[in-house]
Amino acid sequence: MGPAGCSAAIFDTKPYDRIHLPAAAGADIHLRFLSFRLSAETAGAAHGDRAVCVFVNDVVDRECLKQLSAQGTELLALRCTGFNNVDLAAARELGITVTRVPIYSPYAVAEHAVALLLALNRRVHRAFNRVRELNFSLQGLVGFDLNAKTAGIVGTGKIGRIVARILRGFGMVVVAYDPYPDAAWAAREGITYVDPFTLASLSDVISLHIPLTPETHHIIRRETIDCMKPGVILVNVSRGALIDTAALIEALKSGRLGGVALDVYEEEEGVFFEDLSGTVLQDDLLARMLTFPNVLITAHQAFLTHEALMDIARTTGANLRALVTGDPFVEGSVLT
Ligand code: NAI
Repeated sequence: MGPAGCSAAIFDTKPYDRIHLPAAAGADIHLRFLSFRLSAETAGAAHGDRAVCVFVNDVVDRECLKQLSAQGTELLALRCTGFNNVDLAAARELGITVTRVPIYSPYAVAEHAVALLLALNRRVHRAFNRVRELNFSLQGLVGFDLNAKTAGIVGTGKIGRIVARILRGFGMVVVAYDPYPDAAWAAREGITYVDPFTLASLSDVISLHIPLTPETHHIIRRETIDCMKPGVILVNVSRGALIDTAALIEALKSGRLGGVALDVYEEEEGVFFEDLSGTVLQDDLLARMLTFPNVLITAHQAFLTHEALMDIARTTGANLRALVTGDPFVEGSVLT
């Protein structure tokens, strides 16, 4: 680290986090990779670091931020897009700058949503296991053509738009809901904006691409599921708490839902990203979810492509450097 440099504590790191960030941050930033998550209990590990870098499941609440501030942290750099795990009001009060990665390959996330949809609908997850056991029976593997079916895209931001375009490519009718509709985009893509109730009642597939906010928390719950077409496939690669898991389980048990594909789960913190294969799963709702043949879960991996990791490292590295050089932070990345 040069005299003008600084050190940064990089919390909750996995081996793939270490590939691109050192080169992107440059020699003036001393990166301290920590494998555990940031919380009020672990904030002490960032003592003396001007910058702290976190991911989606670090708990950056007021208590944690107070401690970071007292230790001299100036920058909290999120290496993700969503920021629902950070108390921004507290950060603002304490004078800590918070940045995120406003955009990284939205194709990574959109393509994963479609991968889950295809795998679930055509029972690829079940077929894969069967064939390995030399069970070549096709019993129970019947899916449906996506062509000419209706997909409902909730949230037509960067990711939702790509999913919509891919599904149009399959010949699906695509309807969408977004409180800030882009009529010109929809007309170009042959997509129709509808109200949420109409979307729910028309769609054979519903995919969520919205941020988690107080308004969107449990947007999928018993009443909204009741409005959906029986047999609908629900895809969520956005944030777990968009869905009330208990209500989802009831709807799966009753056969109301055709299938559920998830890359996120409301209680994923401490479970997703970890190898718990030798332990007893303590989360009964997740355990129940894993028993359904028509539920496909991946552990928050939608972002995991080389392109997305490189984009994330580039923005995060530039923001860490900006703290040292005084240059502006990456455009669109500053939250406080
Ligand atoms: P974006 O900000 O480009 O788009 C979000 C869209 O949702 C906006 O158009 C907004 O108007 C709309 N919206 C907000 N509230 C809504 C509501 N109640 N109903 C319908 N639409 C609503 O965000 P982007 O980049 O498309 O990302 C979407 C979400 O995907 C993120 O918030 C994040 O939670 C999640 N994500 C998940 C990843 C993963 O690895 N699983 C990786 C990256 C993002």
